Amino acid sequence: MLASVSSRQSLKWIGRQISNRENPATYFDPVLETLNPLWVQRYIPARVVSITSETHDSKTLVLKPARRWGGFQAGQHLNLEVEKNGRWYSRPFSVSCAPSRWERDGTITVTIKEVPDGEITPFLLHEFKPGDILGISKAYGGEPLPEPTQSALFIAGGSGITPVLSQLEALADLGHSNPLTLLYFVRTNADVIGAGRLEALSNRLPNLTVRVVASQADPENPEFLNESHLSAVPDLQSRHCFVCGPPGLMDQAQGLLEEAGVPEEQVYSTLFAVGPGVVVTEGGGGTVRFERSGLEVESEGNRRLLEEAEAAGLNPRYGCRMGICHQCSCRKHSGVVINQHTGQVSGHGDELVQLCISVPQGPVSLDL
Ligand code: FES
Repeated sequence: MLASVSSRQSLKWIGRQISNRENPATYFDPVLETLNPLWVQRYIPARVVSITSETHDSKTLVLKPARRWGGFQAGQHLNLEVEKNGRWYSRPFSVSCAPSRWERDGTITVTIKEVPDGEITPFLLHEFKPGDILGISKAYGGEPLPEPTQSALFIAGGSGITPVLSQLEALADLGHSNPLTLLYFVRTNADVIGAGRLEALSNRLPNLTVRVVASQADPENPEFLNESHLSAVPDLQSRHCFVCGPPGLMDQAQGLLEEAGVPEEQVYSTLFAVGPGVVVTEGGGGTVRFERSGLEVESEGNRRLLEEAEAAGLNPRYGCRMGICHQCSCRKHSGVVINQHTGQVSGHGDELVQLCISVPQGPVSLDL
C-alpha cells in the first residue's frame, strides 16, 4: 500500500504511526531489528566486542554502545537488557572502566560475576560471544569522585570491585595525588577480579595503597573486615570512604567507620545485591488503583507495586528492580506504602514512590 502513495504521504503516514502510539518503538523495532540491530529504539543496543575471563566465575565484556548512548561517570551503573526464551530481562551492573575509555574509542567494559543458579548471569557469560548485540540502559547512580585535595578509602568485596576499578582509573587519569587506600576482600586469591588492572593502577598512582584480603584463605581462621584493617589506614577520619560489596561487608564497614569517627557524610555505600528486605507482616496488601489505566487489583502480603502493576498487564518503566536507580519512581495520589528496604512508612498523600520496593498498606492510588 505504501508503494502507491507519494513520499510526502508516506512521511505523514509514518508520523501518524509515531504520534498514535504511546511507545512507537514497539511498532518499528521489529523492522529496524532486521535492517540493523543498532537502530532499535526500545533499548540502547551495544555490540559485544570481546570477552575475557577474570576468574573462574567472572568475565569482562567489552561493549560498543550505539552512538546515541549518553556516556557515564566513574562508578556509575547500567542495566543490561537481554531476551531469553522470548522474555526480556534487565539486570544492573557497574561499568568497570574509566570514562576516558568511552571518550577514546567508544567502548566500555562491564564485569560480570556468575550467580550460581541465577537466571541471567550464566546466560550472559556462557551464551554471548563477540559480535552479539545486547541492550543497555542509560548510566545511573554513582558517587562523586574525591576532589583533588581529598584522600579516600575504598572498601570492596567480591564483584563490588567493579565500580572501584572505574573510580581508581578515573582518578589516575586525573593525576590524583592525595593518599588513596583500597581494601579488597575476596574469598581466595584466585577470586581477585582485575588483578592486572590493580597492578597497573599501583604503577600509575604512587599514592595508592592496595591491600587484598583473602578471607577464606585459611577456612579455620577466616579474616573479615575488622578494626585492625581500618586502624592501619592513616588519617582515616579525614578520608572519603566508598564501600561496595555484599550486605554483610557493607554493614560491617558502616559500623566500623562510624565507631572510628568518620563523619557520616564522608561515607558512600553501594549495595549491589538484593538484601532480604523488610517483611511486612501486618497490614500488607490492599486495593491498588491505577488511575490512568482505570484498573484495580487486590494486593496481598509482601507483593510490591511493580509486580502488581505488571500482573495487571501494565508496563511501568523500571531499571534495577532493587531500589537503586529510581527509574520506577511513580506518583502516588493517596494511600500508604512501606519501603521494603528501609521499613519506612509513607505519608497518606501525594508523593513519589519507588514501585519496585514499595508494598501497599491498605488502599493505594497510583498515577499509572
Ligand atoms: S527499578 Fe530501580 S529503583 Fe525501582
